[in-house]
Amino acid sequence: MTHVPIHVTKAFLPPEEEYFMWLSKAYATGILTNNGPIHRELEEALRARFGVPYLRLMSNGTLAIQLAIRALGVKGKVITTPFSYVATTSALLWEGCTPVFADILPDTCCIDPAAIEALVDADTTAILATHVYGIPCDVDAIDAIARKHGLKVIYDAAHAFDVIHKGKSILAYGDASTLSFHATKLFHTVEGGAVVLNDAATDERLRLLRSFGHVGDEHFSLGMNAKMSEVHAAMGMAVLPHVEHIIAERKRVFEDYDSALVGLPLERPSLPEGTVYNYAYYPVLFTDELTRERVLDHLAKQAIFARRYFYPSLDALPYVNSAPCGVSRSVAGRVLCLPLQIDLQVQDIQRITSVLKEVLG
Ligand SMILES: Cc1ncc(COP(=O)(O)O)c(C=O)c1O
Repeated sequence: MTHVPIHVTKAFLPPEEEYFMWLSKAYATGILTNNGPIHRELEEALRARFGVPYLRLMSNGTLAIQLAIRALGVKGKVITTPFSYVATTSALLWEGCTPVFADILPDTCCIDPAAIEALVDADTTAILATHVYGIPCDVDAIDAIARKHGLKVIYDAAHAFDVIHKGKSILAYGDASTLSFHATKLFHTVEGGAVVLNDAATDERLRLLRSFGHVGDEHFSLGMNAKMSEVHAAMGMAVLPHVEHIIAERKRVFEDYDSALVGLPLERPSLPEGTVYNYAYYPVLFTDELTRERVLDHLAKQAIFARRYFYPSLDALPYVNSAPCGVSRSVAGRVLCLPLQIDLQVQDIQRITSVLKEVLG
């Protein structure tokens, strides 16, 4: 029997007429990019949604990290997480910084504050941590370390759209937070991202960095092109009214997985107290790498494409120089993200979880 393939993620497409309505506005103005009216409207809608003082749209989530690093003047050694998508590390390297990997906590899979503290030295300038899977880092402990040692804090919040922590948006913590609006994310602009900041001077630097470093004929700083087009912002405006529905449907799939997987030899990362989650990913941790590979293989035979998010542990990348981070390597070796899409039905979840039951049983 041939099965309909199920992929780990599926881009949400708003009803065509809603997207076209926004596109027709771009046709009406004739403005396609360069801080156009749809771009400004999306920027303002997101800023208000998160309750943050400054938010700038970017062409993607990788440049969002790079330009946040630059806007904050971060240089030299940056303590960072080994358990994230590769863009977290590559952004540091592109900006000429040296990533220093601090291991993660086994329960949340986020960076371990005690490991950060142990690595701080006179050359350390910043911490770049990821709210991996949308699970908040220990923001209070990280803030305390940063204050004690005079470090900047950047959060890669690519997975954390709409996550609330201790009564406010997770994006309100640290000196900067970055978002990815890639098509696979729960809110997307096809390609895109944003930087959230809390001070006007850094925001002004970021505005220039995003757009070649000049205003008219006056050149202020080195800059690049990290602007979001009107066509991308139009997709964002069309997706935005559906986010509550998207999160509710993801929660439904999540809960179906939770009940179907009860009793299996699996671990799941946990959320810190005081978190309102966005159901961005459904990671499961197997007892060992061999089991993970067997599950992956059996799923693929049934046309179910789970992914090793995130693998390898970034301290093992061939172009970095790091002591091994044991917890991160262990998690990266055992983790699998199960498909999470809003149109997964009970029978799809049964199809997926029956493979896990068969291999683990
Ligand atoms: C944690 C993390 N950081 C950064 C990025 C990069 O974002 P983008 O693909 O929008 O450049 C991603 C993924 O796509 C990610 O998962």
